[in-house]
Amino acid sequence: MQEKEDKELTKELKDENVRKVFQRVFDNQTIQTIHSLAMKGNFKQLESLVNEGKEALVFRATDNSGNYKAVKVYKITASTFNNMLPYIQGDERFRKIKHEKSDLVFAWCRKEFKNLEACMAAKVSAPMPIAFKDNALVMEFIGDSEGNSAPILKTIVSELDWQDCYNQTIEGIARMFYKAKIVHADLSEYNLLFHEGKIVFIDVGQAVSLSHPRAKEFLERDLKNISNFFSKKGLAKNVQEIKEDLKKTKESL
Ligand SMILES: Nc1ncnc2c1ncn2[C@@H]1O[C@H](COP(=O)(O)OP(=O)(O)O)[C@@H](O)[C@H]1O
Ligand SMILES: [Mg+2]
Repeated sequence: MQEKEDKELTKELKDENVRKVFQRVFDNQTIQTIHSLAMKGNFKQLESLVNEGKEALVFRATDNSGNYKAVKVYKITASTFNNMLPYIQGDERFRKIKHEKSDLVFAWCRKEFKNLEACMAAKVSAPMPIAFKDNALVMEFIGDSEGNSAPILKTIVSELDWQDCYNQTIEGIARMFYKAKIVHADLSEYNLLFHEGKIVFIDVGQAVSLSHPRAKEFLERDLKNISNFFSKKGLAKNVQEIKEDLKKTKESL
């Protein structure tokens, strides 16, 4: 009976590989969560693992019409908890979170969803949020029609129009800051995708509201990372110059 139930709950996992990863990393409750998001019609099956990180796994899924979706599932572990705490504490939107491990991870996932919504409202180029429940989040899949996810800027070896990439990145940061009133707080070439000529901001779980006591410090760190990356691409911009570019961009938003 238990075996039958397990089979039932994992039928959203397409291949044996995905099933194995899933069962190694996730508890039954998480499998139940995925099942419930699938039952609501958000997707039919998790098809392949896009990325396994320290805190979350990202899968590619398909819905009933064959469209791709990205499903990000957070692990519920102690290290996740400790890494998340500074970004949740101090964000007034999440004041009431109980300090239970799973509650914090659930709040984090909700925070990523809310931040994606805020990005969408501010017209930041970011995946469209679709649904979330507990520690799982469904969003637009950024990738080609064959299901390959778009590369992060870090891994791009071909020559791009780096000036244009920089301008797009500045516009995204400015929209987040002036319109959505958030700071990404983990911005670097690892969390920017390049898709069909467009820069796409991802991984916004840790993004904090401007009123967070450390918002300024996080912004400085983001801008430093952006400065370092684009300097390597031949665009020498220090943090001060980036700030000036942000202010100039503000007028045209
Ligand atoms: N919406 C998406 N569409 C396509 N690929 C994605 C999407 N979101 C994340 N990814 C892929 O998964 C990887 C990890 O996602 P990310 O949100 O950065 O999580 P982590 O917290 O593990 O860094 C990204 O580098 C990217 O390759
Ligand atoms: Mg990331």
